[in-house]
Amino acid sequence: MGYIGDYFGSYLSGTGVTILISLLALVAGFILGLVICIAKISNSKVLKVISGVYIEIVRGTPLLVQIMIIAYALPQVGVQFPSILGMGTEFTGGLVALTLNSAAYIAEIMRSGIQSINKGQMEASRSLGFNYWQAMRFIIVPQAVKNILPALGNEFVTLVKESAIVSFVGIADIMFVANTVKNSTYKAFGPYLFAALIYFIITFTLSKAIALLEKKMTVDK
Ligand code: ARG
Repeated sequence: MGYIGDYFGSYLSGTGVTILISLLALVAGFILGLVICIAKISNSKVLKVISGVYIEIVRGTPLLVQIMIIAYALPQVGVQFPSILGMGTEFTGGLVALTLNSAAYIAEIMRSGIQSINKGQMEASRSLGFNYWQAMRFIIVPQAVKNILPALGNEFVTLVKESAIVSFVGIADIMFVANTVKNSTYKAFGPYLFAALIYFIITFTLSKAIALLEKKMTVDK
C-alpha cells in the first residue's frame, strides 16, 4: 500500500473538497430547511401543501438521481451554474443538489423539534401576552434548538458520507480521488480502504464532538 503515499496530496485535497461541500450544504440546507419548516407549520394551507410535497419528493427519490438531474439534466435546458470559490461549475451543481436534499431532512428535524415542546409552553406564553411569533421566538425555539442540535450534528455526519455521491458528477472529493488512484494503479484495495479510513476519521471525530456537546447541554438535568 506504499504507493498510496504518492497520492497523499490528492487525498488531502479530496478531503478538503468533501468537508467543504458537506459544510456548505449543511449551512445552506439549514437556511432553506428553516424556510420549509416555517411553511410546514404555518397556518396557510397552500404553504403546508407545497412544503409537504417538497419534503416527500426529496425524501422519496434517491440522492443519486437528484444529483444527476441537477448536474446533467438542468444544464441541458439552459440552467448553468456559476463557479464558486474557484471550484468548477460541477461543484456548484453538486452543492445545490446536496443542499436541496439536506434541506428536506433538516426541515423535518426542525419541525419535530418544535412540536416536541409541550403545548402548554405556547399556551402559557400566549396568556402572558406574547403573540404567536414572539412566543415562538422567545419561548419555543430556544428550547427546540437545544433538542435538535444532536440531530443536526447527525445530519452533518450523514452529509459527509452521502457526499461521496458527488464523485459521480466529476467533483474531486475523497471518493473521486480513490477512483482515480484505482484507475491509474489498477489496484482497488488500497485506494478504497484509505478513502474509508479518511471518511471514518472525519465522522468518528464529528460524532464524538456531538456527543460531547449533547453531554454539556444536559448537565442541568
Ligand atoms: N442515500 C439516501 C438517498 O439516496 C441519502 C439521503 C440523504 N440523507 C440526508 N439526511 N441528507 O436517498
